[in-house]
Amino acid sequence: MESVSDRPLAVVTGASSGIGRELARCCAEHGYDLVIAADQPEIAQAAQELESKGGKVEWVQADLATEEGVSRLVQAVGGRPVDALLANAGHGLGHAFLEQDFAAVRHVVDTNITGTIDLIQRLAAPMVARGKGRILITGSIAGFLPGSFQAVYNGTKAFIDSFSFALRNEIKDSGVTVTCLMPGATDTEFFERAGLLDTAVGQGKKDSAAEVAKIGFEAMLKGEGDVVSGWKNKLQVAVANVTPASVLAEMHRKQAEPGSAEKKADKKAEKKTGKK
Ligand SMILES: NC(=O)c1ccc[n+]([C@@H]2O[C@H](COP(=O)([O-])OP(=O)(O)OC[C@H]3O[C@@H](n4cnc5c(N)ncnc54)[C@H](OP(=O)(O)O)[C@@H]3O)[C@@H](O)[C@H]2O)c1
Repeated sequence: MESVSDRPLAVVTGASSGIGRELARCCAEHGYDLVIAADQPEIAQAAQELESKGGKVEWVQADLATEEGVSRLVQAVGGRPVDALLANAGHGLGHAFLEQDFAAVRHVVDTNITGTIDLIQRLAAPMVARGKGRILITGSIAGFLPGSFQAVYNGTKAFIDSFSFALRNEIKDSGVTVTCLMPGATDTEFFERAGLLDTAVGQGKKDSAAEVAKIGFEAMLKGEGDVVSGWKNKLQVAVANVTPASVLAEMHRKQAEPGSAEKKADKKAEKKTGKK
């Protein structure tokens, strides 16, 4: 369906909840029309809410881990000029790698990597041909850490963080910028979906999705290369850059191993009673 609007157009994936929903809200509040996508029917409700901001919002329910799902989203865009592409859809998968169901593992890779770069290639090429546009990709500070008990997810984010910088460099003279948003632990449905609720990171303090999205959206508008949201996460990245991978993997185990939330709470209690 072709839009008759002269407002700029933003495409946001993973817009039914969490960071993506807030990114879509930022776009709506900044005068963009929207094409939003997610896998579950909740995307229709998100569209309804976003429409109250005044713009036109179209929604696509598609599994972006599949070529067919990506094609459905591209068809919905229908050749219209895309001013902003926010490739955000993604999900995690906790527990030990050898115990994970491989279909679930594949879905993480196909969503976070294959579907994401397929969509970017198909929509960024016309943006570059037009010489104008903004791309925001949701990576993660997880990309800096070997993710014991979330090994595949962290690997996908290492790919995305790296890919984002490479693409930015390749198209640096095109008028299209690429920005990588690298959040730390953020309060969304991510941890429940990944089966990480009984972990220290799952139970720990988290950033607000609205704040993370705002930081990412503003960086995208400015055309910045990357943005790590929050000073604690910035510190974590600085530490990760000078720490051996084996040490980082052990640190990650303490955060993401099943039952680590309880272990952490027990240690805290022991410390308290020890002091008395
Ligand atoms: N939360 C964190 O701590 C954190 C930290 C760093 C980076 N991130 C990244 O931030 C992004 C957004 O995650 P979130 O934290 O906002 O989690 P969330 O609340 O679970 O949102 C994830 C969004 O992605 C969509 N999605 C996932 N797989 C999909 C698929 N195969 N096809 C279509 N849509 C799919 C979900 O839609 P459905 O429910 O319909 O599948 C949902 O809209 C992800 O890339 C994640 O890796 C999150």
